Amino acid sequence: MMGMKWLLSHRYQGDEMNEPLIDKHGRIHNYLRVSLIEKCNLRCRYCMPENPDWTPKEELCTTDELLTLIDRFIELGVVKVRLTGGEPLVRKDFNTILEHLAGRDVELSMTTNGILIDRHIRNLKDHGLLKINVSLDTLIPERFAMITRRTGFEKVIKNIKLLVDEGFEVKVNVVVMRNMNEDELIDFVRWTKDLPIIIRFIEFMPFDGNRWDDDKMVPLAEMKERIGEEFDFDKLTDGPHDTTKHYQVPGFAGQFGIISSMTEHFCGSCNRIRLLANGAMKNCLFSTDETDLLTPLRNGEDPEPIIRQVILEKKPSHAGRFNIAKQENRSMVTIGG
Ligand code: 5AD
Ligand code: SF4
Repeated sequence: MMGMKWLLSHRYQGDEMNEPLIDKHGRIHNYLRVSLIEKCNLRCRYCMPENPDWTPKEELCTTDELLTLIDRFIELGVVKVRLTGGEPLVRKDFNTILEHLAGRDVELSMTTNGILIDRHIRNLKDHGLLKINVSLDTLIPERFAMITRRTGFEKVIKNIKLLVDEGFEVKVNVVVMRNMNEDELIDFVRWTKDLPIIIRFIEFMPFDGNRWDDDKMVPLAEMKERIGEEFDFDKLTDGPHDTTKHYQVPGFAGQFGIISSMTEHFCGSCNRIRLLANGAMKNCLFSTDETDLLTPLRNGEDPEPIIRQVILEKKPSHAGRFNIAKQENRSMVTIGG
């Protein structure tokens, strides 16, 4: 039986909290982002390579294996779990995973493309997954089809409104790309006049297969300047681990934010750990090192010492890479942001 030796000898210590997962720079890691699946029902150009190399099924975590790994992170101090993908709602055992995590003492959130939200909304609400980030890069239907290489624009817009009506905390992620959607900054901000959502503009980042180059990235300073040509806005206070700088047009129901991963990184307060669908762990979005936790688990070993070591060795910023634009990484679709 997979993982049985360790599972049998391992007993959850309850409130008797372990040492936190801490790195050499004193950062405590208590936020786990889990990519449930590599596959997606859209094909966004900046995220999905044209011919993705899918991992063979036997190298991906089963439901039990994934839940065992997530539970181990929770025992080691994780208090927030975000489900990502690919598209997390495409995973067939999504409900089993959700049900399991709902019984754990963690704050649940998800990043989704929004296409399947209406089918899952009752279940999400019943299980307390109330914080949802929807990726949507344009408010123009034809452009949506071009960027995602699929249809579904109306569905996503409808589902965003549905989430708001049902009381979810909704953020919309917009990857800003030059000559693609940079002309929509103002329309997106205007959308927050009556809709209580947070629009988050993200600087385009380099990943394998997305044909990144410097000129496609619109820096934070320029985004602020462009929005400022139309709206006066206030800077809001950000939380200690926020990757987003928040702003609001006075009187608007919603807010907007900018994620400046490229021009002003926020690594100093990073609390994030990433777990991929194949049971590999990454200590940074930009790290090219992946540490396999699944093989040790299948061999009946406790992954804890490996997890601690990977966190301990985390680099101060951007995985220690001097020029993140020039190096190889996985494609975004397998990391999940
Ligand atoms: N640059 C910036 N953000 C990206 N995302 C995907 N690929 C990139 C990229 N190259 C974002 C998506 C999604 C989140 C998971 O990551 O918009 O919201
Ligand atoms: Fe954290 Fe790495 Fe992202 Fe910096 S680049 S915020 S260290 S995950």
